Amino acid sequence: MENPFKYAGIVRGPYFADRKQELSELLSEMRNLGRVFLVSPRRYGKTCLIFNLSDKLKKEGYCVAYLDLNAYPDLASFSVAVTEKVSRTLESSTDKLAKLLSALKYLRPRVEVGPDGLLAARVEMTVPRREALPALLEGLHYCDELARKKRRKLIIAIDEFSDLAKYDGQTIEKAIRSEIQTHSHIGYIFSGSAQSVILAMTQDPQRAFYRMGRIMELGAIDRSEYLKFILKWFKKGGYQLKNVDFELVFEAAEDVPYSVQRMCNILWEKARSTGTVTQKMLEQLPLLVARQDSVHFELIWQTASQAQKILLMALAKQQNAKPFSRAFQLAYGIGPSSSIKASLDSLVKKGILYQSPAGRYKFADTFMRYWILNLAERGAESR
Ligand SMILES: Nc1ncnc2c1ncn2[C@@H]1O[C@H](COP(=O)(O)OP(=O)(O)O)[C@@H](O)[C@H]1O
Ligand SMILES: [Mg+2]
Repeated sequence: MENPFKYAGIVRGPYFADRKQELSELLSEMRNLGRVFLVSPRRYGKTCLIFNLSDKLKKEGYCVAYLDLNAYPDLASFSVAVTEKVSRTLESSTDKLAKLLSALKYLRPRVEVGPDGLLAARVEMTVPRREALPALLEGLHYCDELARKKRRKLIIAIDEFSDLAKYDGQTIEKAIRSEIQTHSHIGYIFSGSAQSVILAMTQDPQRAFYRMGRIMELGAIDRSEYLKFILKWFKKGGYQLKNVDFELVFEAAEDVPYSVQRMCNILWEKARSTGTVTQKMLEQLPLLVARQDSVHFELIWQTASQAQKILLMALAKQQNAKPFSRAFQLAYGIGPSSSIKASLDSLVKKGILYQSPAGRYKFADTFMRYWILNLAERGAESR
């Protein structure tokens, strides 16, 4: 049986754990063509959630266009992509598409032979790239019109929306808002991992997206639901579970679904030969994942200064440490606070650490902590 714990790309259908509540809330928002801002840290499952929602919506007859802002370095390419994707989901005939698109002023159709040898209608900009904003607004307006003409309900999901700032944000935000507010056939999902950016966009009365939609903060998956999902698969695979307690997996993963998936994926393979899952296997999982990623961690480690390495070791050993406390500094022979502050700032900037809402410094990748602990142990052994 194929390993059911997928940890890369889009995880769908039976491989997608729980999120029933979130799916049903999003479904009802989209049935009302609402606007939702979906926020969470990275790897909590926003993108997967959007795709699973999209599968359900399509079954109900909706058209769904998905765009990831990461893929579009400038506003011009985004304008083109929105128009092209929406057109394609609403109209399959290339001829008709080309005709529909020819009514546009800033964007125009271009018929191309695709890699499959078939004709495909593409969209291109007819204005200089610096005039991409009117093209985007025209594109969005056209999407709503097209949905109306085709009598279809359309959902546009824009992923990594917090990236919008890279297009020289605030004038664009205002323009998009006033266009979107006139739409009557489109529901929107704006999703982003830069939580603070999205929250600032939507909760600051001075900003254009203030109260433009509902904010949905995607939290961790409920442990008991996740556990049901995990046990169901192990049972299906014919595995025996001997007095195992998955709590330690959720703890080590800090409830990040991506990290839970990685550990379960390894566990499935490790227990394959005997068909038995033991507590001892569970205990080894964080380090096994860390070892799989060691090349990556090695590279990161090399970018750290000596002072930063010592600090990282200390933080790995003492989770929830208070790095500015005297006790912590004495215990690890580091300090003063000013240089610790400089190291922390630099490690956060590099994305190695992040500051939790409670003000603690944590590893952005939970497995890096295990990799460093192992490094420290090996260092101690060789001494
Ligand atoms: N509900 C879930 N069930 C199973 N795996 C999940 C789930 N949510 C997230 N994952 C895992 O986490 C990975 C990252 O999810 P993703 O949707 O890309 O997160 P985000 O968009 O929030 O960064 C996925 O590839 C998948 O392995
Ligand atoms: Mg994502």
